[in-house]
Amino acid sequence: MNKSASLSLDEQKVELPVKEGTLGFDVVEVTSLSKLDVFTFDPGFMSTAACESKITYIDGEKGVLLHRGYLIKELCEHSNFLEVAFLLLYGELPTKAQAKQFNTDINLHTMVHEQLRYFFNGFRADAHPMAIMVGVVGALSAFYYDSLDITNPEHRRISAIRLIAKMPTIAAMCYKYSIGQPFMYPNNDLSYAENFLHMMFSTPCEAMKINPILIRAMDQIFIIHADHEQNASTSTVRMAGSTGANPFVCISAGIAALWGPAHGGANEAALNMLKQIGTVDRIPEFIARAKDPNDSFRLMGFGHRVYKNYDPRAKVMQQTCHEVLAVTGKGDSPLFKVAVELERIALNDEYFIQRKLYPNVDFYSGITLSALGIPSSMFTVVFALARTSGWISQWSEMVSVPNYKIARPRQLYTGATERDFVPMAERE
Ligand code: CMC
Repeated sequence: MNKSASLSLDEQKVELPVKEGTLGFDVVEVTSLSKLDVFTFDPGFMSTAACESKITYIDGEKGVLLHRGYLIKELCEHSNFLEVAFLLLYGELPTKAQAKQFNTDINLHTMVHEQLRYFFNGFRADAHPMAIMVGVVGALSAFYYDSLDITNPEHRRISAIRLIAKMPTIAAMCYKYSIGQPFMYPNNDLSYAENFLHMMFSTPCEAMKINPILIRAMDQIFIIHADHEQNASTSTVRMAGSTGANPFVCISAGIAALWGPAHGGANEAALNMLKQIGTVDRIPEFIARAKDPNDSFRLMGFGHRVYKNYDPRAKVMQQTCHEVLAVTGKGDSPLFKVAVELERIALNDEYFIQRKLYPNVDFYSGITLSALGIPSSMFTVVFALARTSGWISQWSEMVSVPNYKIARPRQLYTGATERDFVPMAERE
């Protein structure tokens, strides 16, 4: 039986259809309300599903994350980042032949246009790599005119491949520029994760030999960050894309939204917070500050809009973190000790229990990335690199639907009513 919801508006009774997904909550379709000159009001989208999607599902109460039906834990254990990117884009795990072809396609596009390197010279050497990333990724649209027709499925496919392939190269260039070392070209004999580490840490004089456990950890970090349903940056990509803008600038918009400390910038902020706390004995002081309603301080890497249970990505990340610290010999680092103790105290504190505030993905990713030798200013760049696979899949899903609508929210206006203009001469 088709479900519906009733809404009484003054004298009118409106029937609103209820849509059911394959998993998760039902949604009440309110599109017909605009015909009655009334709109829903939901700042922060606390109760709004902005789109229909088949890509990622989160059960925030149970702490479950599925990509195309597969548990994140299983993907991390058995898959690799490029396979997950294929899954997000096309809906199924690749066959052996498809996986081979996808790897080849990615490898064909890992280099960036030589002209693009000159963009970097325009930035100050101390520019934040995310600032560079926003500009350079948007600028890709000035190089690939041959694939900008978003109504053409082949153009969409090539743009997706180009973005996924070039992000590690651009991310590593941001880092090399900041430390004054020459850019490294990609080496297509290496896996996606190893290639990124190679471009980050090798120099033209010396190729860095990287421990396979660290390469695997890097790959897992990419998988963990690949997609996360309709978060702020993904919604930004969809919103920009709904205007018909090309995929490169849409991803650039997503990178901008990701940068904020309430979103992807939290990994950098979480590590900075652990450094600020410094030693285990100072934790109570910071817990007290986080609980004080008059103090804006928050425990970075804690809490989530959707997860009201342990973030499943944080569980995987905690394990990866242990492995990386064991290999790098940083297990005794004060930072890690502070993190473990902070987590223990917060999980037993009434304030955090009541509000269902658990560690999120960013809590352990910062320590892990740091142990991999990646500086904190690059953390959100790594997040953006991985999330590009999710962003472009979500963008592709949206623009593949015929007659998709431009995203154009309405507002509750509370400003001045119409009034007469007062000329300057008559003002005080
Ligand atoms: N530390 C202390 N208190 C917190 C925290 C925190 N990290 N997060 C939420 N609260 C409190 C908040 O003060 C509020 O308390 P009260 O009800 O007494 O006013 C209550 O919990 C609900 O918070 P909210 O801000 O209404 O929740 P939200 O769903 O709007 O915000 C959040 C979610 C992630 C922005 C927030 O938890 C936060 O700022 N966390 C720290 C930043 C962070 O780690 N962000 C990464 C998110 S995961 C990565 C990603 O997907 O981008």
